[in-house]
Amino acid sequence: MAAIQLKTELPGPRSRALWARREAAVPRGPYNATPIFVKEGGGAVLRDVDDNRLLDFAGGIGCVNVGHANPAVLRAAREQLERLTHACFHVTPYESYVALAERLNALAPGRSPKKTLFASSGAEAVENAVKIARAATGRPAVLAFEDGFHGRTLLALSLTSKVHPYKAGFGPFAPEVYRAPYAYCYRCSYHLTYPSCALACVDALEEYFKRYVEAEKVAAVIVEPVLGEGGFVVPPAEYLPKLRELTTRHGILLIADEVQTGFGRTGRLWAVEQAGVEPDILIAAKSLAGGLPLSAVIGRAEVMDAPGPGGLGGTFGGNPVAVAAAHAVLDELESGALYEAARRIGAQLEARARSWRERFALVGDVRGIGAMWALELVRDRDNKKAPAKEETAAISRKCYERGLVTITAGTYGNVIRTLMPLVIRDEELHEGLDVMEAALAEVA
Ligand SMILES: Cc1ncc(COP(=O)(O)O)c(C=O)c1O
Repeated sequence: MAAIQLKTELPGPRSRALWARREAAVPRGPYNATPIFVKEGGGAVLRDVDDNRLLDFAGGIGCVNVGHANPAVLRAAREQLERLTHACFHVTPYESYVALAERLNALAPGRSPKKTLFASSGAEAVENAVKIARAATGRPAVLAFEDGFHGRTLLALSLTSKVHPYKAGFGPFAPEVYRAPYAYCYRCSYHLTYPSCALACVDALEEYFKRYVEAEKVAAVIVEPVLGEGGFVVPPAEYLPKLRELTTRHGILLIADEVQTGFGRTGRLWAVEQAGVEPDILIAAKSLAGGLPLSAVIGRAEVMDAPGPGGLGGTFGGNPVAVAAAHAVLDELESGALYEAARRIGAQLEARARSWRERFALVGDVRGIGAMWALELVRDRDNKKAPAKEETAAISRKCYERGLVTITAGTYGNVIRTLMPLVIRDEELHEGLDVMEAALAEVA
């Protein structure tokens, strides 16, 4: 049986009625990638309010690597819900928080002893990572990258690059945030070509420390090992090691933001493992608790201990139900089968995407790692690479009208990215890719 089963046109009548209520009751600020209201999920399939079955290539923006309604996650969360829903770690601590920290410390890349703090969202974890880095180094500045995304709270938004729609009108932003180009080879800020560039974008940071901010003032460099919202940009293999070497040389902490890349998405638990790099601080969220709100700041023990008692925390950080779900997620990942699945999904995505690049001039770049693949769509691929934003939106719309949920990305909104649950079956994957291919063919 096909995964996609449509009983109405999409959006269906119930979704349309809910959309009218949504517009009246909810501000327009929270963007909706589709106007389809869902009520159930299982594996890689969503059921909407009109009883249509949809295939999910978005995973709630990469939060359900272990699948919607993963039975082990549900069991763990339900059992915990019945026993203790909330106590607040600051008031009466509980073992599961400590045990999850122990597990993540053991799973973090590198040999140095680690400690872990829990919060509720990716942005909150980013804010905490910066606080910790400042406390540990006594330095104020943070260097982030062009096309990076780190969240929407004030400091996280200050670190985020994309102006429209994230930043425009929301200033003033937090001070002491600096920004340099990322290794976005398809649109190199220095107009160089890899590998002959020898990663000049990292060497350029030495110049940066002369022209914009002295290295001695920089607490941390925060980097996504693969740009997420910025368009699934995979830097060359030597990029992170080179950045690690540069930060170590200047006594700057390296913060890896693995909010989107973590928990198997790239074919390993962490994307930085692929580069053989140990960051001083690693930020995790999204798929950590299989869809429940939980984030983690995992770092070298002496760095994490820099803020004094009371300096870190929050009422809901490390909520017992979310922590129980995260234990179940780590159990699910333990066998390594989902990492293998990510690599298998990636191989199939790559083969299909490369064939589309042969057929459609609209496909400018195809890139990815593990199950994290992207198509960057452009109008003039051999010359100016003008971003094909409207075409990208049209493809995304044609996909959901046929029952495939996708999301876009990129500073220019011209990237289609894949964040399907890693439990997706091969037939489901190809069914979804057939829908994408048909939409691409129509628009191209
Ligand atoms: C790399 C990265 N960092 C931080 C965030 C912010 O996470 P949240 O939306 O949970 O605050 C995101 C969200 O997409 C992200 O992709």
